[in-house]
Amino acid sequence: MTTILKSSNTVWHHATVTRQRRADLNNHKSTLLWFTGLSGAGKSTVAHALEESLYQMGYHTFVLDGDNVRHGLCGDLGFSNDNRVENIRRVSEISKLFIEAGVIVLTAFISPFQADRDKARKLVGDDDFIEIYCNCSLEICEKRDVKGLYNRARKGEIKEFTGISSPYEKPENPELVIDTGEASLDDCVKQILELLIKRGIYERK
Ligand code: ADX
Repeated sequence: MTTILKSSNTVWHHATVTRQRRADLNNHKSTLLWFTGLSGAGKSTVAHALEESLYQMGYHTFVLDGDNVRHGLCGDLGFSNDNRVENIRRVSEISKLFIEAGVIVLTAFISPFQADRDKARKLVGDDDFIEIYCNCSLEICEKRDVKGLYNRARKGEIKEFTGISSPYEKPENPELVIDTGEASLDDCVKQILELLIKRGIYERK
């Protein structure tokens, strides 16, 4: 069961500008695209490329990116299991607000635990949660090592590193798997755009 976390003596205030009215104004629906995968799998790259395409079509988007969010809102968190759980909890709550604001939200977090991704799904609702697994092997991520972190993790300089000394649970039932190890960026973006049309988030022009 999910416990609703709320401060005492607070009462929800209902907005007159509803999600539906925002969607009517924007000419598209809002939703959450939840990218998950190892560090270096290409989550942020795909999310930003997809955002660029959506922006050029005139749609309202926002990318919440693990590295960036950890520069501020989640800057107090490390990489222990508990801290990762809290990281994903905060991101899920923010995503919910963005969905309410009429935005197509793209989150790019390792989000290594199935239970946390399931909690996020439950929080925003199944209809609004599109889980996208960026499937890229540890070997390829490690070979790319864009940030040099795998090398440091192998040397023991970074503890609890996902894939090396901290687990990654592959999604059990994602809405989409993109092969970010092999497929082109363009291909990955196209697959997601097709899915968005299929789900009625926007109409093909
Ligand atoms: S999550 O596990 O809590 O979802 P998140 O996506 O926010 O992780 O942050 C991952 C990013 O933090 C990685 O892409 C990498 O740049 C950096 N990082 C630093 N330390 C670690 C670590 N121990 N494990 C994984 N990523 C780390």
